[in-house]
Parts: sequence; structure tokens; C-alpha cells
Amino acid sequence: MAPGTPFLPTTTDGKILRSSFIRDEDERPKVAYNQFSNDIPVISLAGLDDEEGVGGEKRKEICRKIVAACEDWGVFQVVDHGVDVTLVSEMTRLAKEFFKLPPEEKLRFDMSGGKKGGFIVSSHLQGEAVQDWREIVTFFSYPIGARDYSRWPDVPEGWRSVAESYSEKLMGLACKLLGVLSEAMGLDKEALTEACVDMDQKVVVNFYPKCPQPDLTLGLKRHTDPGTITLLYQDQVGGLQATKDGGKTWITVQPVEGAFVVNLGDHGHYLSNGRFKNADHQAVVNSNYERLSIATFQNPAPEAIVYPLAIREGEKPVLDEPITFAEMYRRKMSKDLELAKLKKMAK
Ligand code: SIN
Ligand code: FE2
Repeated sequence: MAPGTPFLPTTTDGKILRSSFIRDEDERPKVAYNQFSNDIPVISLAGLDDEEGVGGEKRKEICRKIVAACEDWGVFQVVDHGVDVTLVSEMTRLAKEFFKLPPEEKLRFDMSGGKKGGFIVSSHLQGEAVQDWREIVTFFSYPIGARDYSRWPDVPEGWRSVAESYSEKLMGLACKLLGVLSEAMGLDKEALTEACVDMDQKVVVNFYPKCPQPDLTLGLKRHTDPGTITLLYQDQVGGLQATKDGGKTWITVQPVEGAFVVNLGDHGHYLSNGRFKNADHQAVVNSNYERLSIATFQNPAPEAIVYPLAIREGEKPVLDEPITFAEMYRRKMSKDLELAKLKKMAK
């Protein structure tokens, strides 16, 4: 490999983890990748579209479950969601093939230097002190006019058409779920999608190789998602963990065949005036299996205004003033940076 080529976790052969991946003790996994919990509700969407039904009872029941999950965890899983299983398995097959390509091939899509979309080795390009044990390929899929196909992988064959269909179907599912949440806030079905102005969608495919010392590292460090909602497809290995009590208890989400994990992001949290939670989550890795997940982020446009759409009686707004999503994101990033600095100083 050419000198200066970054270390790719997929090329590891040693028994010892490289020091750049070793996390401070307080950040390391507390629960195993396969110690599954059923605390996160699994909700069937069969009948969601059936407003007629018996007075729309089926729809109402599904909506109640979704809303309760958002108020409780900000995370739930959906099955019977209408996204074709063959499409999802095609997308995962292509993604796995992509990560098996030689480093030179993957690095043709290297997104260092501020390029939008492509391949990233772990998180070292984002200026993180400690790297995540993962490789990522990402593509921006909405708004359609902003698609830059030169940043979408052209290998393996078929990527572009499968990825396009995948994006479209997931956009449809996201809009349905946002419709439910808007109605729960006492607003029109379209309120949340409209608040996003022209909804952005970014797809991030995560590949977590087997790891020689998984207890010392993370596949993806603890965070909340910035956007409105995220739809995550994961394989059956396990590794997604969530908390709702500020990190005292972590649970590993039970993988459910064919399901999407839905989690509310910061934007969804603020627009609901904090009623819907934005759970802290992370991904842990293991030494037995590699793992694949595909996160589809539904984000507002950068200029969209972030401010509660519904403030219930007796509540105060969670934000002092309306800000743009770009500003919300900037503040989130600078807070993270500040915390990282403080941590370094305390060492
Ligand atoms: C994410 O939070 O974006 C991905 C988590 C996972 O891979 O389970
Ligand atoms: Fe996330």
C-alpha cells in the first residue's frame, strides 16, 4: 500500500488494538454487544395507512405506541414497514462487497479535504482524538437536485440504482412516521416535514470489522443524532446500544430481522419541545463477527428554523430563540469540542 495510506480497521491482523482506538475507561462499553434487551418497543406498521378501518382504530393504536416510545426512549423498531426485503438485502449485499474491496479501491472515494460523500476511514478525518472502529461510506441522496453522483461509489455494479431505490423508499417511510409525530403534537400531518423545508437525506453505511480488543474501544462513540429522525437497518450481530438515563444504564438493542430502528434526533426533540426524547446511543464491536448497519438520516435543510412547533400548557420553550439548523449543528459541534478539550485538560 502507498506510504501515508491511513490504517483501515478492515486490514487488521494483530491481536493488540492500535493505541489510536483505545478509549478512556469511562467511555468503554459497559454491556456486551450480544447482551440483548427487549426494552425498546418493536412496532408493526401493518394498518397504519388504513384510515378507514374500524374508525381508524388500528392506525390510532399504532400511533399511540409510536408516541409512547418517543416519549419514553426516543427509540423504537418498526416491522411491516412496507420497504421491500429484497431491496434491503440487495443494499446490504452491495455494501458488504464494497467494504471487501482493496483499500486503494475504497480510497478512490476518500472524502478527506471537505468532499461531500464518499469513504471515510474511521473518524480520524473529523479531528477526533480517538478513532472509532469502523469504516464508512456515505452518500447524500436528498434533495435530488443536490446529488453528486461522482461521490457515490461506482462499484460494486448496481450500487447507484439500488441506492437510489433504497433512499426513495426510506424517504417515504420517514415521511409517514413524521406524519404520526406531527398529529401527536396536535398539528397537521405535514407539519414536521414542512418544518424541514426541503428535507435532506444522508445515508451512512457503517462496517464494523472484528476487533482484537473490543472492550477497549467503540465502533461509534456515544452521541445523539442531530437531525429529525434516523432509520437504521442493522444485521443480526448486535452492537447498537442506547441509554435514557444520562448513561447510567446502557442496553443493547435486540436485532430484529427486517426491522428498522427509528431514533429521534436533536431537531425532532426541539420541535416537540423536548416531549420526544433524543437518546444517547453508540455502537460497540466484538471479536467474533463483523457487523454492518445502514443509517439513513432525515435532516432539515440548513436554513430550516429550529424552534418548538407545539408548546403544551405549563411548558417553557426548550430553546431561548429560533435558530437555523445550521446554527444548531454548529453549536452542537463546538460544545463537543469544548467537552473534549476539558477532558484532555483534566487528564
Ligand atoms: C449510528 O448511530 O449512526 C449507527 C449506530 C449503529 O451502527 O448501530
Ligand atoms: Fe447515531
